[in-house]
Amino acid sequence: MRDTPLPLAMHGVSLTLPSTAGPVEVLRDVDLAISPREKVAVTGPSGSGKSSLIAVAAGLERPTCGRVMLFGQDLGPMGEDRRAELRRARVSLVFQSFHLLPNMTAEENVAAPLEIASLPDARGTARKWLERVGLDHRLRHYPHQLSGGEQQRVALARALAVRPALLFADEPTGNLDTETAEIAANMMFELVAEAGAALVLVTHDEALAAGTRVDVACVLHTVADPKKPIEDVAR
Ligand SMILES: Nc1ncnc2c1ncn2[C@@H]1O[C@H](COP(=O)(O)OP(=O)(O)O)[C@@H](O)[C@H]1O
Ligand SMILES: [Mg+2]
Repeated sequence: MRDTPLPLAMHGVSLTLPSTAGPVEVLRDVDLAISPREKVAVTGPSGSGKSSLIAVAAGLERPTCGRVMLFGQDLGPMGEDRRAELRRARVSLVFQSFHLLPNMTAEENVAAPLEIASLPDARGTARKWLERVGLDHRLRHYPHQLSGGEQQRVALARALAVRPALLFADEPTGNLDTETAEIAANMMFELVAEAGAALVLVTHDEALAAGTRVDVACVLHTVADPKKPIEDVAR
């Protein structure tokens, strides 16, 4: 029997970006592997390359060297279209600043990727997911009419409604107050487990990554730090 491919495997990944002040080394020799359903938290200080790690892992940014495999497929030789197609089928992202489309209602925001994927009854599925995140009374609200916590719950519903096998979350609670952040985080961990998805959560917030909510916690060190670029701190 063939093994199920890992949702994500990164080998020797480095990223150097040009800037007006010269090249900036952002990631150096990062290795990271995520198993199906595994929940992995990557913490690290601001500027350690967490957002860049997600951009490279999700195929939004090409590494300077190293290899990124998503679901057993090497992103290196793939063009933009194939990478976008692979993401659409199996990967979702949530961000600190929610990234909802401002001119669409909550329901339309959640339905949009379902419609793009030509799934039946996109609106009905969107309503079901908004109900699941406790927002069935906010279906026709636009993002600016929602609180930060509500916007992030819409973003979570949108991310999970497409049934991704892998969710990337970049500081998902970074714009929320402590209490709202806790609600959103609990909801994210619960929905990811329920959906059977793998999770890569990057955050500077060690409390968010603590405890039994994640299977693996690692620290991403800045390139200037002589430690291993990314190391497991608990398993
Ligand atoms: N497009 C870019 N061009 C040049 N440098 C960048 C670019 N994006 C990020 N960086 C640099 O890369 C480093 C890591 O950034 P980032 O991945 O955003 O870190 P984090 O998410 O951990 O705060 C920072 O030093 C940042 O200034
Ligand atoms: Mg960041």
